Amino acid sequence: MNGPVTRTDNRIEVVGPLGDFHRFLSQVHTAIEKKGYEEIILDLRQCTSAFQNSMLSLCAQVMAYRKGGIDFSLIPPDEKRLSNLFQNTGWAHYLDPGQFDPPAFRGHARIPATQYESPKEQQLAVNAIVKVILGAIPDLQRSDFAAFEWSVNEITDNVLVHAYSPIGGLVQVSTDRKSEKQVAFVVADAGVGIPKTLREGHPELTSDASALDRVIREGVTRDKKIGQGNGLFGSYEICSQCNGYFAIHSGHARLEFDARRGLSVSDERTPYNGTLVIATIDFSQPKLLENALRFEGRKYTPVDFIETEYEEYNGDHIRFMLSKESASFGSRVAGRPIRTKLFNLLRMGGNERIYIDCSDVALMSSSFADEAFGKLFLEAGPVSFMQKFEFVNVAGTVRQLIDKAIAQRMSAGVVD
Ligand SMILES: Nc1ncnc2c1ncn2[C@@H]1O[C@H](COP(=O)(O)OP(=O)(O)OP(=O)(O)O)[C@@H](O)[C@H]1O
Ligand SMILES: [Mg+2]
Repeated sequence: MNGPVTRTDNRIEVVGPLGDFHRFLSQVHTAIEKKGYEEIILDLRQCTSAFQNSMLSLCAQVMAYRKGGIDFSLIPPDEKRLSNLFQNTGWAHYLDPGQFDPPAFRGHARIPATQYESPKEQQLAVNAIVKVILGAIPDLQRSDFAAFEWSVNEITDNVLVHAYSPIGGLVQVSTDRKSEKQVAFVVADAGVGIPKTLREGHPELTSDASALDRVIREGVTRDKKIGQGNGLFGSYEICSQCNGYFAIHSGHARLEFDARRGLSVSDERTPYNGTLVIATIDFSQPKLLENALRFEGRKYTPVDFIETEYEEYNGDHIRFMLSKESASFGSRVAGRPIRTKLFNLLRMGGNERIYIDCSDVALMSSSFADEAFGKLFLEAGPVSFMQKFEFVNVAGTVRQLIDKAIAQRMSAGVVD
C-alpha cells in the first residue's frame, strides 16, 4: 500500500508507507524539471515504512541529480526504528551525505546498500554480499549458492558494461525475516536504460515493453562482440525456477515475474531513468538451481566463491581465516553467522579438511565461542567435527575458551 506523496514547492513529503517508488520519483522530477527547483527537501518525518527496492531506486536517482548540481536534504522518519534503518542501510547517507555518515559494515544479516563504480569495487561488494549470505542461510547447497553468486555478479556487472550511469551502481541484499531461505537483491543504476542499449542491436524493438520482453530471452544482447546475452536470461531462469521473484524497471516499462501470476510485461507511465533489477531467490528446495543455468542446452557450472575464496591452490584443505570472517568476537550475534558459514562449508565441501585459522584473534568471549563452535560441535557431531575441522594458530587463552565452550555445550546437549 502507498501513503500519499505530495509536493509543496520544493518539499516532497511522504505520509504513511513509502511503497512504490514511481510516484515519489515523479514528484522529484516535477520539482526539478518542470518547476526548476535546485534544492529539494525530502520530508519523510511521517513515513511509516520503506523497503530496499524502492529506496535503492530513489537513492540512485537522487545521487544522479546531485551529480548534476541539485541539492537534496533529508528529514528522516520520526519513528525511531525506521530512522535507524535509514542509517544502517546507508539510504540516509546516499540521499543526504552532508548530513549522514556512511553506515558501518557490521557483517550480520543485513548488509548496507553499496555503491560501486569500478570492477574492483563491484568485486568487493559482491564478495561481501556472498559472504554474508553464506553465514545467514542455513543448509545451503554449493550449486545453489554458486547460482546466486553468479546472478549477483552478472547483474552488477551489467551496470558497468552497459549503463553509462553517472553514479555507477547501487546493490543491496537482504534475507527475508518470514522465510529464512529467501534472499532478495536489488541493483539500481541511473544510466541510459535497457531499451536504449538493446535497440543498438535490435532496432525493431520500438517500445520499451518489447525490449524488456526480449531481454530475458537466451542470447539477446546489444552486441555479440561485447556480451552473450546470458546474464539476464540466466538470472530470470534462476528466480523463476525456484518460484522466487524477478523484476526489471527500465525506461517506460516494467517486467515482473512472481510464482502466482507468472510473467507479465507492461508499460509504465512514469519512466525510470536507468535500470532497476530486483531478484528474489528461494533456496528451500535443495539442488533446484543446479540445473537452472543452461546455455545452448548445456548445463553451466560457474566457478564459485568457495573455490576462489577458501580453497587454497594445490591444497587439500579450505582455510577459514576467522579474523576476516567477523568484525567482532565478543557476542552471540557475531558467533551465529560463523557457525552457519562453517556448517555450510562442512556440507558443501568434498573431502577437504577445513582449517579454522585463528591468527590475529587474541581473545574471544565465551558466548561467541559457544555460539560459533560449541553449537557447531553438537550440530555436526563429534566424529564429523573432528574429521572435518582443525583449529590452527590458536592462542592459548582462545584454545581454553573454545574447549570449555564445547565441553559445556556437550553437557547441555541442545542447540536452538
Ligand atoms: N544496467 C543496464 N543498463 C543498460 N542496458 C542494460 C543493462 N543491463 C542489461 N542491459 C542490456 O541488456 C542486454 C542483455 O543483458 P545480459 O546481461 O542478458 O547480456 P549481455 O550483458 O549482453 O551479455 P553477457 O551477460 O552474457 O555478458 C545488454 O546487452 C544490454 O543491452
Ligand atoms: Mg550481462
